[in-house]
Amino acid sequence: MTGDFEIGARARARCDLLGAPPYSEVEGQLTRRFLTPAHNAALERLTLWMTSAGMTVRRDAAGNLVGRYEGETPNAPALMIGSHIDSVRNGGRYDGPLGIMLGIDVVEAQRDASRRLPFAIEVIAFGDEEGSRFPASMSCSRAIAGTLDPAAVLGMTDAEGVTLADAFTAFGLDPDRITDAARKPVEALAFLEAHIEQGPVLEAEGLALGVVTAIAAQKRLMVRITGMAGHAGTTPMALRKDPGPAAAECILALERLCQAGTDNLVGTVGRLTALPGAFNVIPGAVEFSMDIRAETSATRDAAVEAVTAEIHAIAARRGLSASVTLMQALSESPCDPGLTAMLEAAVGHLGLPPRRLPSGAGHDAMVMAALCPTAMLFIRCEGGISHNPAESVTEADCALAAQAMLHFIDKLERRERA
Ligand code: GLV
Ligand code: MN
Ligand code: MN
Repeated sequence: MTGDFEIGARARARCDLLGAPPYSEVEGQLTRRFLTPAHNAALERLTLWMTSAGMTVRRDAAGNLVGRYEGETPNAPALMIGSHIDSVRNGGRYDGPLGIMLGIDVVEAQRDASRRLPFAIEVIAFGDEEGSRFPASMSCSRAIAGTLDPAAVLGMTDAEGVTLADAFTAFGLDPDRITDAARKPVEALAFLEAHIEQGPVLEAEGLALGVVTAIAAQKRLMVRITGMAGHAGTTPMALRKDPGPAAAECILALERLCQAGTDNLVGTVGRLTALPGAFNVIPGAVEFSMDIRAETSATRDAAVEAVTAEIHAIAARRGLSASVTLMQALSESPCDPGLTAMLEAAVGHLGLPPRRLPSGAGHDAMVMAALCPTAMLFIRCEGGISHNPAESVTEADCALAAQAMLHFIDKLERRERA
């Protein structure tokens, strides 16, 4: 039987092991994008760990890995536990994988205790939560939840011009069949995701764990400002059509709007490209991404509308043209009140205060809410740092998270047997 502290230590160590090649695309950092050889290597390793924890394991049609531990009766609805195995470029080792490793460990604890439940447990490693290869994110949980429109995503291209459809084929999957990954609501009793907080609140309050109330709404947009490419040495400043300074004004406008916003409104330009991209060429166009989030879709949408109007006004004033393209919209997702109360009680069982907090980060749980009730457990991370190789979490906090998940399973069992 795995000891309490060993569970946390092992979950963290497994994330660390996956932090380097062949589980990363790049030596010296963790970059593991959807449908790459690094993704495949991670699924092979996870298959071994899930199998040795007592699960039967399959890859679904959308590139997710699903391990199943049967309940007392075959084909019982499942408590799904999971998170994502992909990373941002040069990311941390725990954002995503920790929730999978903890899921494997809590299943192994059931197996070691020869315990079968009135429900199955499935551990899911979602393939694409970050959207770090293709412009849209969460395509794998959307496929499982049945909310993915293949026509809207299969033509998307990565930085090398590879389409999502071709990437699926290269991974050994049929792009015409990705909707086969969809699960029926009767198959899904609940979804539980454990994840590092990715923010500083728990650490500031001296708390190991938190219980998520809701996940913020988000939109991804691509902006293109088009001017006229020209010679950097010969074109006088007054005679240029340079989209660079226009893009700078747009970014400042987004910052100003979000700083004045309510409902934890935030806006980020995380990608910025001047084309063609040379010291001595005035760019002909500048493209940049916008990620805009708030606790409510209404606040997010008002900000998107306002910044879009500003972008067009800035471009017009400078004699340039602009386009703003919506790449993805995800609504805010409240966690299920009943499951959230159960998770709070599980945390309370450990003698810890059940701190409730919202999530500004997106998670597969927000998509899985379309399929079944969801609950989310947050784990303190050092300095609140995430999407950064400095991401860090303690073994002791991971162990507490595993214990809270085990208590949650006990409570769910009691509810289902009542
Ligand atoms: C995922 O980390 C997101 O919040 O975008
Ligand atoms: Mn992330
Ligand atoms: Mn994540």
